[in-house]
Amino acid sequence: MNTTDQPIIDVEDLTTAFGEHVVHEHLDLRVMSGEILALVGGSGSGKTTLLRQILGLNSPKSGSVKLWGRPVQSYVGPERLALTRRWGMLFQSGALFTALSVFDNVALPLREVHHLPSDLVRKVVLMRLKWVGLNEQDAQLMPSDLSGGMVKRVALARALSLDPELLFLDEPTAGLDPQRSDEFVELIKALHQQLKFTVIMVTHDLDTIRDLSTRIAVLAEKHVLVEGSIQNVMTFDHPFIKAFFQGKRGERALGNQPLQAEQYGKS
Ligand SMILES: Nc1ncnc2c1ncn2[C@@H]1O[C@H](COP(=O)(O)OP(=O)(O)OP(=O)(O)O)[C@@H](O)[C@H]1O
Ligand SMILES: [Mg+2]
Repeated sequence: MNTTDQPIIDVEDLTTAFGEHVVHEHLDLRVMSGEILALVGGSGSGKTTLLRQILGLNSPKSGSVKLWGRPVQSYVGPERLALTRRWGMLFQSGALFTALSVFDNVALPLREVHHLPSDLVRKVVLMRLKWVGLNEQDAQLMPSDLSGGMVKRVALARALSLDPELLFLDEPTAGLDPQRSDEFVELIKALHQQLKFTVIMVTHDLDTIRDLSTRIAVLAEKHVLVEGSIQNVMTFDHPFIKAFFQGKRGERALGNQPLQAEQYGKS
């Protein structure tokens, strides 16, 4: 893995609250360059909110979120714009703009951030679609014409449109059947190896965790309860972890298989 000493994401002693409702408390998380970090936790545990904090869309009540060594809130104006070019986000709903074609959905971030001539926009959009296994004909389709798997691919192409260093994936395989889910995982894995971005991914899917992640962080009781390899995490004594990783579901998905990180380590 291409890790450097300085984390890309450094969340320290974070508190997040909506009114009286405290979502995160004393939360620490670091993500190093080249990692694919799986963030797991129960529904409502604050995973999406944590991604939003890292993106600087919510303000912390206390604590800090640093990106590339600087508080995310300190990037303002042109610096904030430059920062948004360095990441891509695949939202939980995979949301595409229904009134825009596949082409225009993928072109949107390019048009928002750069003032590029239209032939260059076209070239970049078609390249991003090719990355995710779609072609020029697909570019003309509307979101309502797409299967669930294609929607995810287009949303991924859009997240990759600015060639980001950091990719946020919120439930990337939710709603896909097992085969489409496997294909999507293979696609992200191949792109990760080729493009060398860093990924922080929220998922409930044990197959996705096993096949894609290099490290796991468990969000429970308002903070990162435990993080590390799957073996580290699975042996931690906590009811959420027992329910999530163990039992028949965990046995079926995880068996004795190593995490992706260990497979990378061997190559
Ligand atoms: N803008 C907001 N205003 C008020 N409460 C919010 C807001 N955003 C999130 N919350 C609350 O924060 C908590 C965490 O929500 P979040 O969406 O981060 O959970 P999650 O872990 O992503 O859940 P899921 O797995 O269901 O997607 C929930 O109780 C939610 O209702
Ligand atoms: Mg969520």
